[in-house]
Amino acid sequence: MASLSRKLSSFSLLDGSRALTFSVSILLASLLISEGLEVGSGEDGGDELFPAILRDEAVSRINQLGKISDADGYLERTFLSPGSIRATDLIMSWMQDAGLKTWVDQMGNLHGRTDTVNATAETLLIGSHLDTVVDAGKYDGSLGIICAISALKVLRIKGKLEKLYRPVEVIAFSDEEGVRFQSTFLGSAAIAGILPPTALQISDKSGITVQDVLRENSFEATDESLVWVKYNPKSVWGYVEVHIEQGPVLETLGYPLGVVKGIAGQTRLKVEVSGAQGHAGTVPMLMRQDSMAAAAELIVTLETLCKYPDKLFAYDEQCGFFEKESLAGLVCTVGEISCWPSASNVIPGQVNFTVDIRAIDDEARKSVVSEFSNQVYRKCEQRMVNCTIKHKHDAEAAHCDSELTLQLKHATSSALRKMPSDIHGDVPILMSGAGHDAMAMSHLTKVGMLFVRCRGGISHSPEESVLDDDVWAAGLALLQFLDQHVNQ
Ligand code: GLV
Ligand code: MN
Ligand code: MN
Repeated sequence: MASLSRKLSSFSLLDGSRALTFSVSILLASLLISEGLEVGSGEDGGDELFPAILRDEAVSRINQLGKISDADGYLERTFLSPGSIRATDLIMSWMQDAGLKTWVDQMGNLHGRTDTVNATAETLLIGSHLDTVVDAGKYDGSLGIICAISALKVLRIKGKLEKLYRPVEVIAFSDEEGVRFQSTFLGSAAIAGILPPTALQISDKSGITVQDVLRENSFEATDESLVWVKYNPKSVWGYVEVHIEQGPVLETLGYPLGVVKGIAGQTRLKVEVSGAQGHAGTVPMLMRQDSMAAAAELIVTLETLCKYPDKLFAYDEQCGFFEKESLAGLVCTVGEISCWPSASNVIPGQVNFTVDIRAIDDEARKSVVSEFSNQVYRKCEQRMVNCTIKHKHDAEAAHCDSELTLQLKHATSSALRKMPSDIHGDVPILMSGAGHDAMAMSHLTKVGMLFVRCRGGISHSPEESVLDDDVWAAGLALLQFLDQHVNQ
């Protein structure tokens, strides 16, 4: 703590079901919300839509954060890494500039809270994560934190912070990606009260535990300190997250923003394949127990299972009840593989790889996990290698609150009507294939999400790109949403 203070692929129900997206959005009845955001002059140079804060400053801050990295030449910030701590400090200064009271909790989450008259009313939480993947883009996580701070800064300039009738708190979560410990949502799960104390003992590749990392940074890291981080559901009104879409739907529709209906559940596994290490030149092909060849077969097995799930389930009587729809959006990935001893003239003795399986339908996902596991053990036996499967992470699909989503939708269309560009049509409603802190927060309170269009649907890549005007639109939509919590 002392050292710290020193210093979430999206897909929609489109394509086969493009009509469904629109019919869902049409089905949602119109909710009349206040569109009375008083805008005017001030630090923003008199422009009514605050482009200097919501666009120019926000974009410049995203760029600044995008340069804070633990690696040379690419962006990487993991849980409580030196880069994450520098990022925390910088975000803290921006929160203070927006008029927020700041602190860092015992899991390294950074909070910035308004000091409202009605301090004990249920709090509106707005957040996203400050950690990144390896070789990340600069918008994933940062965009949501910065849009929230910018919108609150506009409220401060308008003298409206004091008029909020409930506290608003921005949270920059310390870990969503789970890169270092393979266990996502360390930050938001602790706040939501769903992080088990055993999480402190999870270790990274070099055997350092979450508890070690916390203690290196002067946090207590005890079962009790985890309890301090947890919020009481009764003290919270809801949670809102702005996030880069990470998929191509909004760009395809030509629409800058969309609201989210639900987030796919996910399972992460680690598969360990142990064979017999040997000489590449002397062991005959039929006498090998090659862990690399076995791993390759298992990876292709996973791909086939997830590419053509109906083939499998069509022949499986037990799973016959699956509707095609429940398998829609099923995606499976092997993103990391390691091999020992990793030399060109050695048959590998050990290969480990990660598996990431996601689906909107939790039962469908669990069935795929179970089928994949059965096939792994069967194929490993055939190849005479030993395989173990470790469950690293499971998150159920999350459903966004329909009323909160409707409020975000109306705030969005109202903001977009004010923007100079000419945008027509209903705000799209999307499903998210990517995981978000909102999943963990849905165990604490109702959640809603706003997605922001990105170029080519690319994310988890340095190619991630969002138009400056779309950052502006997102900030304006959030501002419009916040205005509903202000005494007019
Ligand atoms: C987080 O970005 C995830 O979906 O893996
Ligand atoms: Mn993210
Ligand atoms: Mn991400």
